[in-house]
Amino acid sequence: MRILVCYGSKRGGTAGIADIIARTLAARGFQVDLRPAAEIESVDGYEAVVVGGALYMSRWHRDARRFVRRHTQELRARPVWLFSSGPLDDSATWNEVPPVEQVQRLMARIGAQGHITFGGRLLPDAKGFIASKMASSLAGDWRDPRIIRAWAEGMADGLRAFERTPSHAAEDTPIWH
Ligand SMILES: Cc1cc2nc3c(=O)[nH]c(=O)nc-3n(C[C@H](O)[C@H](O)[C@H](O)COP(=O)(O)O)c2cc1C
Repeated sequence: MRILVCYGSKRGGTAGIADIIARTLAARGFQVDLRPAAEIESVDGYEAVVVGGALYMSRWHRDARRFVRRHTQELRARPVWLFSSGPLDDSATWNEVPPVEQVQRLMARIGAQGHITFGGRLLPDAKGFIASKMASSLAGDWRDPRIIRAWAEGMADGLRAFERTPSHAAEDTPIWH
């Protein structure tokens, strides 16, 4: 099964999360492509898709948004999981942080399998007027690789279930004996 893991990331933090997800899925035997969402022209050939976006001012990164809008029809026909990366504290470690409204709408549009919000990262030397001001008090890395891997493992289990077609199921269960 070939899986596309793509992301919209401004400062690299979300790309790092996507990388952990891609590696976890690859270790489970899936063929995985990891790409920036803005570069994807087609999802043909992928049987499942993971899309991640950084949160800025309660909005999902534009590249992730555009990717979902551009490929709505194709995504509706595949299992798709979304993730957001944002909180610069431990709120996403201990609580389920619901998707922002915009992401909720996109999930409904494509019939997504699920969504998770992971903690974010802001480097102390972040560039940009607002980001550098925020960094003076909020810089830190709240991405927890164990939580990211655990989520990807759950997805891998779900995908194995998708893989099991009725014909395979029949092979697994020799009810004719
Ligand atoms: C200007 C600015 C606005 C942000 N707005 C939000 C927000 O609305 N919600 C949130 O959870 N995180 C917010 N964050 C935190 C980022 O989502 C976090 O740093 C994320 O990991 C950035 O991902 P990236 O490195 O892939 O761009 C904001 C960060 C900055 C610098």
